Amino acid sequence: MKLVGLVGWRGMVGSVLMQRMQEEGDFAHIEPVFFTTSNPGGAAPKMAKNETTLKDAGDIAELSKCAIIISCQGGDYTSEVFPKLRAAGWDGYWIDAASTLRMEPDAVIVLDPVNLHVIKDALGKGVKNYIGGNCTVSCMMMGLGGLFQHDLVDWMSSMTYQAASGGGAQHMRELLTQFGTINGAVKTLLDNPASAILEIDRQVLATQHGYSADEIKQFGAPLAGNLIPWIDKDLGNGQSKEEWKAGAETNKILGRGAGFGSKEIAVDGLCVRIGAMRCHSQALTIKLKKDLPLDEINDIIASNNEWVKLVPNTREASVRELSPAAVTGSLTIPVGRVRKMSMGGEYLSAFTVGDQLLWGAAEPLRRMLRIVLE
Ligand code: HSE
Repeated sequence: MKLVGLVGWRGMVGSVLMQRMQEEGDFAHIEPVFFTTSNPGGAAPKMAKNETTLKDAGDIAELSKCAIIISCQGGDYTSEVFPKLRAAGWDGYWIDAASTLRMEPDAVIVLDPVNLHVIKDALGKGVKNYIGGNCTVSCMMMGLGGLFQHDLVDWMSSMTYQAASGGGAQHMRELLTQFGTINGAVKTLLDNPASAILEIDRQVLATQHGYSADEIKQFGAPLAGNLIPWIDKDLGNGQSKEEWKAGAETNKILGRGAGFGSKEIAVDGLCVRIGAMRCHSQALTIKLKKDLPLDEINDIIASNNEWVKLVPNTREASVRELSPAAVTGSLTIPVGRVRKMSMGGEYLSAFTVGDQLLWGAAEPLRRMLRIVLE
């Protein structure tokens, strides 16, 4: 059995990965080696077989024994350790959740229900670096993959509603703490049905404006009862890095663009942080290459993979099935609000929601592991 090194398995994405690997019986196919940055020599978790102690995640010699390494440790770890491993001659498969290596020419962004052909082609050519995509892009591609597969997308605009978990565990805690503080500030007024709503509103705003630096440490602004229309770095051209990723990664996932000798599909939009916990949602405007009947479009979307679920474009179904609270914890990617827009028959609207810790992070990694093991 192949030695598979696991790094960053205790963090939020890593924990979801461990849970999914147990659910799918992945540990039956590997000899896991658990690495740690903080507790070498400690006891490995119960999934361990022969290697029952934790190894040092900075130990290049120990890491080099693994045929495959899966890292959820984050970008700083990848930047530090990956070059040293390769410089030491390690020739194994590197499967990573961090963005560090995503756009490197010798790396493939993995989302096999959408790009198995790109992955298989790369494996055949001896590519050894397989990186999970940006969560928003992966969730969008799982939902709208059919339109890309049929080469129907001329361009796409994606307006996102991204959950706190995209920032990390501390961000989720900060959001909930802010909600709690707001509730605490107006609880007495809320409990009194005769209190004035504008007085409640005034106190909510005063609370949001009055947060200490510590209470907005992660997001830099209040998020509870608010939104933040910027995610990730400022690229200096008016675009955020998260927005840039939509175009760059979508094309790379599909094996399209200059590097592949074809024309890129333009994908761009605005990325917005909202007070949801772990599901990213997106409102899409899609310019199709041709004016297809809506039922044909619906079939193309619904039949792309076994996780996409077309939600009828009705009020009832949309409210019930197309929200972060409805989707959290599930691999299902609902796509709804699909209709032709008033701009013309080639303009389509859609709304999709995905659990960013599952398809957006952990799931493509464990599936890539299984592909390597095939
Ligand atoms: N950049 C994403 C976010 C994280 O902040 O929501 C998932 O790639």
